[in-house]
Amino acid sequence: MKATHSNEDVKAGTDVVLTVTNLGVGFFPDSARRYDVVRGVHLTLRAGQTTALVGESGCGKSITAAALGGPLPRGMVQDEGEIRWAAGVESRPGRGLAYVFQDPGECLNPVFTIRNQIHEVLPTEERGNAEERLVELMRQVGFAEPARVLASYPHQLSGGMQQRAMLAMALAGRPRVLVADEPTTALDVTVQAQILQLLKDLQRQENLAMLLITHNLGVVAAMADYVHVMYAGQIVEAGPASLLQAPRHPYVQGLLRALPRLRGPRQKLQGIEGSVPPLGQRPAGCRFHPRCPVARDICRQREPEWKAVDDQHAVACRAIGADGWE
Ligand SMILES: Nc1ncnc2c1ncn2[C@@H]1O[C@H](COP(=O)(O)OP(=O)(O)OP(=O)(O)O)[C@@H](O)[C@H]1O
Ligand SMILES: [Mg+2]
Repeated sequence: MKATHSNEDVKAGTDVVLTVTNLGVGFFPDSARRYDVVRGVHLTLRAGQTTALVGESGCGKSITAAALGGPLPRGMVQDEGEIRWAAGVESRPGRGLAYVFQDPGECLNPVFTIRNQIHEVLPTEERGNAEERLVELMRQVGFAEPARVLASYPHQLSGGMQQRAMLAMALAGRPRVLVADEPTTALDVTVQAQILQLLKDLQRQENLAMLLITHNLGVVAAMADYVHVMYAGQIVEAGPASLLQAPRHPYVQGLLRALPRLRGPRQKLQGIEGSVPPLGQRPAGCRFHPRCPVARDICRQREPEWKAVDDQHAVACRAIGADGWE
């Protein structure tokens, strides 16, 4: 079998909820041009499991997530690949799939009460006698006084409470997949830990498949079963979250070196030189080669091939062998 970063066969027995194959999103600034935003992304989301999507700003994490079911920005189209739901899962946004974002403002409308907004996303059959369900949702996300929060407008809630209300709204449609795009980045550290714990609890209760987008590799270590690392619109390394203890791709190794906390206290903080190329300026060959410390001639000319490190872990790099440095 040709190696890819699809972990299709991992953990047989866990229910696959959503399979994404060869996903591509194009940006059409005008009718004459198409830029690759995201290309060749494979994802397999399983009930009760968390897949983290990581990478520097502008790598395509949010666009990948949006392509699964949310609206894409103007001018962007998912024009490659396939998104397949497991039989019986309703894929309508708000039912099969729900999103939470860094900024609750992307979900919560300032001019309606929390009650109004959550009521709106309840499945039709639950709207008639909704009060019990609304109170249950409030309790599920940790509110001790459901009635007071339901009667509030978003600005009357703290950042952490808004995040909880947004989660209640996400759960209201009884999703099977929860996409959390930097859910705690805007919160202070203690609230961040509470929301992450809540996400874990809700995932267990609801058997949710979660796609967790984060910059924070500490959050990945605490939350994720699998990790996919993106660079310039493509996945470059994927596998169980433990791969971050010994990543193979020079980009992922660089991301880890940029993280002082995971290194020894006297280790010099080293980032990765340069930055993610903008759309339309991505280099030929391996997109990482201009920043790569081990790039060879072939990396400038040809796209990388996927190599299997083991049956769950794969990496797209020509400069290294599956067992480490060639
Ligand atoms: N509305 C838009 N119009 C045009 N280009 C966009 C738009 N939104 C994102 N892009 C571009 O698409 C690419 C992928 O962006 P995306 O938002 O998915 O990155 P990201 O990995 O989520 O970054 P961040 O960590 O900053 O959220 C980037 O080059 C970005 O500049
Ligand atoms: Mg983003």
